[in-house]
Amino acid sequence: MNVLVVGGGGREHALAWKAARSPLVSEVLCAPGNAGTALEPNVRNVGVGAGDIDGLVRLAKDESVELSIVGPEQPLVDGIADRFAAEGLKCFGPGARAAMLEGSKSFAKDFFARHAIPTAAYETFTDLGAARRHLAGQTLPAVIKADGLAAGKGVIIAHTAEEADRTLGGMLQRHEFGDAGKKVVIEEFLRGEEASFIALVDGTRILPLASSQDHKARDDGDRGPNTGGMGAYSPAPVVSGDVNDRIMNEVMRPAVEGLAADGIDYRGFLYAGLMIDEHGAPRVLEFNCRCGDPETQPILFRLRSDLVAVCLEGCGGALDAVELDWDPRAAVGIVMAAGGYPGSYEKQKPISGLEGLDSDTVKVFHAGTELHDGRVVTNGGRVLCAVALGESVSEARERAYEAVGRIEWEGAFSRSDIGYRAVARERGTGQG
Ligand code: AMP
Ligand code: GLY
Repeated sequence: MNVLVVGGGGREHALAWKAARSPLVSEVLCAPGNAGTALEPNVRNVGVGAGDIDGLVRLAKDESVELSIVGPEQPLVDGIADRFAAEGLKCFGPGARAAMLEGSKSFAKDFFARHAIPTAAYETFTDLGAARRHLAGQTLPAVIKADGLAAGKGVIIAHTAEEADRTLGGMLQRHEFGDAGKKVVIEEFLRGEEASFIALVDGTRILPLASSQDHKARDDGDRGPNTGGMGAYSPAPVVSGDVNDRIMNEVMRPAVEGLAADGIDYRGFLYAGLMIDEHGAPRVLEFNCRCGDPETQPILFRLRSDLVAVCLEGCGGALDAVELDWDPRAAVGIVMAAGGYPGSYEKQKPISGLEGLDSDTVKVFHAGTELHDGRVVTNGGRVLCAVALGESVSEARERAYEAVGRIEWEGAFSRSDIGYRAVARERGTGQG
């Protein structure tokens, strides 16, 4: 069968690469894809944007696509799954109402409250004066979130009153985040260790993928501005067996039951961004209605099961019949980004050193790349994600950094400490 992967980032390269290895699949179409998907065997890029829902419907019909997997959140929030369903096309992803869990932070917070899902205390504001008065009574750091989608950049952790005030003014008065920031959520600052918990949901059942941890800050030591994610590894040791059970019982099951109780048939990936405290208690930072980027890259590099078969079971409400088979080794993915990211950056820089890097234990997934006269050039902020497997996170990370060390373009940078918490645990030196 033909499978369509919607999107063109690192997550979509990983989804397309994995789907193309399914014995059920003749060809994977990627819309629009990147240089990595263009060079991938059994994968073909199609020049239709991820936001062009009409174009994607036409493409799926013209190419007899039997399963579509949507990578990014925007088309899901815009209702791509509803449109595909109405056209009789199979699409693994939630409809627009369910995608509001990611599309509106205040919607998500109200959902958590309604279904007793643990999360930070919060209040929602549209009025600058009211938001300022509220903040004056809060302890620092303050967590200020633009309500709508902001590509991972709409969350500000303000450590001073001035920064908090400037952030509120930027969102509510100067509209620096456009419509996304016309409403803000101010919430309690949570301490602990973060983990990403991504599951397939088929309406009622929950099939968790392997755990992972992302590094959202740009700089080493989790400093600097938030990004879409600078690297990730799987599994995340903080998600022990007990913590896994707590996440399922306290977050995932109440969420899926809550969705059903609210009249929403959720079929797709559900991603809980969690803060795990020192007692192993999970609290939700955010829900996403899709796979994580870059978490998907190391996770899928460990998945031995057939992704396409599993997504088809998800669409059909039959996940109870599925068990996932994982490579027991750890995988680490290091993002290589363009100088300036997450601010403005240059594009079209030729990339060298990619040849001969991929092996059974290393895979360089592309994100912001394109082919220009047959050469791979940069075309985005997060450009590549080098993933490696190893017997430990330390070994996987060493291998991944070896690959990173061989790739070059003008202005490239990456964090040098991806996986540091897991590595510290392996060395027996605590939490790093
Ligand atoms: P979000 O997009 O809501 O997951 O937020 C992005 C990042 O900001 C998270 O991955 C955390 O690192 C941080 N963050 C968000 N909310 C909180 C919170 N309430 N307390 C502490 N850190 C947070
Ligand atoms: N890596 C964070 C996200 O995909 O939202």
